[in-house]
This record gives sequence, structure tokens and C-alpha cells, in this order.
Amino acid sequence: MKSMNVKFSINAKSYEMDVDVRKSLMDVLRELGYTSVKQGCGVGECGACTVLVNGTPLDSCLYLAVWAANKEIRTVEGECKDGKLTAVQDAYVEEGAVQCGFCTPGLIMSSTAFLEKNTVEDLSSEEIRKAHAGNLCRCTGYQTIVNAVKTAAKK
Ligand code: FES
Ligand code: FES
Repeated sequence: MKSMNVKFSINAKSYEMDVDVRKSLMDVLRELGYTSVKQGCGVGECGACTVLVNGTPLDSCLYLAVWAANKEIRTVEGECKDGKLTAVQDAYVEEGAVQCGFCTPGLIMSSTAFLEKNTVEDLSSEEIRKAHAGNLCRCTGYQTIVNAVKTAAKK
């Protein structure tokens, strides 16, 4: 087993560790206790494992942990501050966009990245759907998610 010493930050907390070069970022995050990062398909289809790396959403099951060296990783655990939900999280609750919840951490990260990069008022449903195309949800039918992103954008 070959390992490499890497440094990265997760939700603004610094880590330095030896990582098996074959290990996915998803596995490393889950082993460190960031279990919001879900393993769904494990092959880049479902988006349940979505995290932000330097602000970009990606499937952490397909991303080697060593590629995250010197980068900033964000998971949903780090979004809520002092027990207060973010505007995106609030809007998901308000719009009923959370049902079983398995897809929700990944979706929240995709919505968060999308709203950090776009100005709000004129977001079309089509753009919102495109930005979340990598996140599968088996429960909501997606309309409530689109509604939640629009509501969050106004907050
Ligand atoms: S578990 Fe990563 S995309 Fe499905
Ligand atoms: S809320 Fe159940 S999979 Fe999305």
C-alpha cells in the first residue's frame, strides 16, 4: 500500500495525514466522521457524495483524496454556524425539499455552490435544474428543490 502525506482543510479545520493513494476523498471524509457525505452508487452517478473542493461541487467517490492536497473541502457539516441553518438549508425545509434525506447533503452543497456563483433574481428553473443534474433524488420529484433554490436566492 502506497501512501502520501497530504494537508488539506475540511470545513476550515486543518488536517495533515498519510493517505492511501488509492483512497477516494469520500472514504477519507467518512472515516474522519463527515458522514453527511453519503455513498450511494460509488461510481459518479448519484451525487450523494457531493462536496465542494475549492468551491466547486464534485463527486467525492470519484476524486482521490490525494488530489485534495492543499485544497479547501466543504461538507454540509460545516455550513450551519452556531446552530443556525444557512439560507439554503432553511429554504429546503420551508419548501419541503427534504424527504428521506439521503440525497440532501449533496444537493445542499450543489445549491450552495450554485448560489455563491450566480446572482439571484433572474435564475431560471432550467439553470437551476442543470446545476443539480448530477444529484439524483428518488423522493421529491425535483420541483421542490428548484423552489428551494429560488427561495434561498431571495433570502
Ligand atoms: S456515491 Fe458518488 S456519485 Fe454516487
Ligand atoms: S429526499 Fe429521498 S432521495 Fe432525495
